[in-house]
Amino acid sequence: MSDTPVHTVLVIGATGRIGRLVVAAALRHGLDVRALVRDSQRAVGVLPGATLVQGDLTRAADLTAAVAGVDAVILTHGSAGYGARDLEDVDYGAVANLLTALDGRRVRVALMTSINVNELSGAYQDVLDWKRRGERLLRASGLPATIVRPGWFATLGATNQAVALEQGDTRHGDQVDTRQVAEALVQAVMTDAAVGKTFELFAARGPAPADWTPLFAGLDADLPGSLDGAHDRPNMPLSAEPARVRTDLDRLTGRP
Ligand SMILES: NC(=O)c1ccc[n+]([C@@H]2O[C@H](COP(=O)([O-])OP(=O)(O)OC[C@H]3O[C@@H](n4cnc5c(N)ncnc54)[C@H](OP(=O)(O)O)[C@@H]3O)[C@@H](O)[C@H]2O)c1
Repeated sequence: MSDTPVHTVLVIGATGRIGRLVVAAALRHGLDVRALVRDSQRAVGVLPGATLVQGDLTRAADLTAAVAGVDAVILTHGSAGYGARDLEDVDYGAVANLLTALDGRRVRVALMTSINVNELSGAYQDVLDWKRRGERLLRASGLPATIVRPGWFATLGATNQAVALEQGDTRHGDQVDTRQVAEALVQAVMTDAAVGKTFELFAARGPAPADWTPLFAGLDADLPGSLDGAHDRPNMPLSAEPARVRTDLDRLTGRP
């Protein structure tokens, strides 16, 4: 568990498939939950027990209001379209704007991205690249963060309640229950052993974990100063990155 207990968590992407489950899981764990929603009329009734904060994650000022007073943030957002602008503004932009809004304030962060962000080809190349850029920005911030890369979302039966936390991003097409993803994200902000870790998440045969600490503790930490996760492939050279990304990284790392 955490040496610095988390009381209030902001969920970004709260109305989504995973976000709704994160809100419910966080409430079950006794946290106060704040949910960023674009349309509070629509979100009322969808997120019982959460405090709704209306805002758009593409506007840093909206996030500034949303993060006031929270000690943890969980991001499960995703763009509706796969247009280049959406991916940059939403999938990546949420992380960039969150860091701007926090302005150096050290809160716990759990970011959901995806398996296969290390891949350099395929149908989802663009979205995976922008998700990986968001990961890199978060690592560069130095915040106490955890990055969760789920496998394919599924609803699985009672025989697959165990979880496998892996590193190196080598598996393709394997599934994870959406409730496992939500639980992992909430456990990540509540458990010190999860800080500085990046991992893929899959379902496995067996019962649900009673304690996530040994699972997190068994992972290798991301190397200090590295933009990539432990065991990631060094296949995204900074020199080939979009100018906006390099500027954002330079600002965070203090490079001239
Ligand atoms: N499907 C899979 O098997 C799989 C596996 C691994 C990773 N993933 C990734 O997981 C991500 C999320 O999945 P999901 O199924 O939970 O997505 P989802 O149901 O589409 O939810 C996306 C969330 O992001 C919010 N959002 C989008 N743009 C926003 C904006 N400008 N301001 C505020 N909120 C905004 C949406 O809010 P609204 O309700 O207002 O639209 C919604 O709450 C996706 O990006 C996907 O790539 C998926």
